[in-house]
Amino acid sequence: MTDPAPDRLASRHRTRLADRLEATGLLRSAAWRAAVLAVPRELFVPAFFRRSDGPQGTVWAPVQPDTQGADTWLEEVYTDETLVTQLAGGVHPGDADGPVGGEPTSSSTLPSLVVRMLEDLDPKEGARVLEIGTGTGYSTALMCHRLGGDHVTSIEYDPATAARARTAITTAGYSPRLIQSDGLKGDDDGAPYDHLIATCSVRTIPPAWLRQVKPGGTILTTVSGWLHGSGLARLTVGEDGSAFGTFLPGTVSFMIARPHAAPDLGDFSSLLRQPAEERPAHHGQEVFQEWVPLFLTQLAAPKAQRISTRVDGGPWLVHTIDVGSGSFATLVPSDDGFRVRQGGPHRLWDDVEAAIDAWKAAGSPPQSAFTLTVTPTEQRVRLDTPEGPSWTLPT
Ligand SMILES: C[S@@+](CC[C@H](N)C(=O)[O-])C[C@H]1O[C@@H](n2cnc3c(N)ncnc32)[C@H](O)[C@@H]1O
Repeated sequence: MTDPAPDRLASRHRTRLADRLEATGLLRSAAWRAAVLAVPRELFVPAFFRRSDGPQGTVWAPVQPDTQGADTWLEEVYTDETLVTQLAGGVHPGDADGPVGGEPTSSSTLPSLVVRMLEDLDPKEGARVLEIGTGTGYSTALMCHRLGGDHVTSIEYDPATAARARTAITTAGYSPRLIQSDGLKGDDDGAPYDHLIATCSVRTIPPAWLRQVKPGGTILTTVSGWLHGSGLARLTVGEDGSAFGTFLPGTVSFMIARPHAAPDLGDFSSLLRQPAEERPAHHGQEVFQEWVPLFLTQLAAPKAQRISTRVDGGPWLVHTIDVGSGSFATLVPSDDGFRVRQGGPHRLWDDVEAAIDAWKAAGSPPQSAFTLTVTPTEQRVRLDTPEGPSWTLPT
């Protein structure tokens, strides 16, 4: 007979997690509470990486029951934290003897965000949902508990992650349709769906999603980009391949869908040596630190990437670079703020400042004042004021 104590302990952790999520107001319904109480998160994160920031940068230490102790591991499994499960597109906790570097490429999203999005999606009994970004499978399992496995399809890009998720979901006793593929192509075979939820972000709404969700159905996804601005959009799909919706409150971001990831900047030194115009900047590096200004910067310079450089202990220079058009804007600290040097065919920082000035003139509204309209020919984010400026998402 197996020892029931670990199960009782995990069950107590689940109750505490559900209570905490309810106290934050993000878990709002009895149906999703029942799912949180039922799905054992420990099956989906048998091991994960714990972040630590030091003088040498960020490293990730593997956390597993046999190295950290089962109780410590289980307690961390039930924290309301994102647990990173893969680095650099292929390094898993079991591969590492100690702390390692690398960018997270798969994770179990923090439970409060998972349930918040499920509450925002609000699928009713009998609804069929397509999830993009299976990850560990935890959110897939919550949906299976609520809707039934035959109502859930989930797509994961990464083969190793998809295989691990399949094992965990099956062990937990659920049987959704699991597909290892590029979720940007969606799932023609299972369409039409009532809802689509993405737990990776996109630069633009993939056309396949618009085809595969029923008119009146919803798409819930973060829209982000190469400058890391982000917003959670909830769209209602129209009859004619269009969709419309607003951005929801909160600071929600996800790792970007792999085919939408920024290309390598390569050697940009000659680009920065082009002839440039310099002037005082009205807005400086602070735009990259604040949520809505960063989102606006992203909208105004949708194909740009940001990189910082420093020469011989001098000040950090922040470059916004659009390799495709060969344009750049460099922010240089000055005595009274920043100066900006701009070169190439587009004055990137002029566009960024115009976007931020228009938002300030509208009273600096929150992200929920922005709408997203998607048609077969264009995707446009608009500041929903009488004279609201708008920006086209990149193709
Ligand atoms: C934040 S994780 C998902 C979290 C997950 N829902 C959970 O509860 O564990 C994002 C996942 O999206 C996957 N992903 C990235 N691009 C994708 C794409 N184009 N199609 C499907 N999955 C993708 C990543 O490999 C990663 O596993």
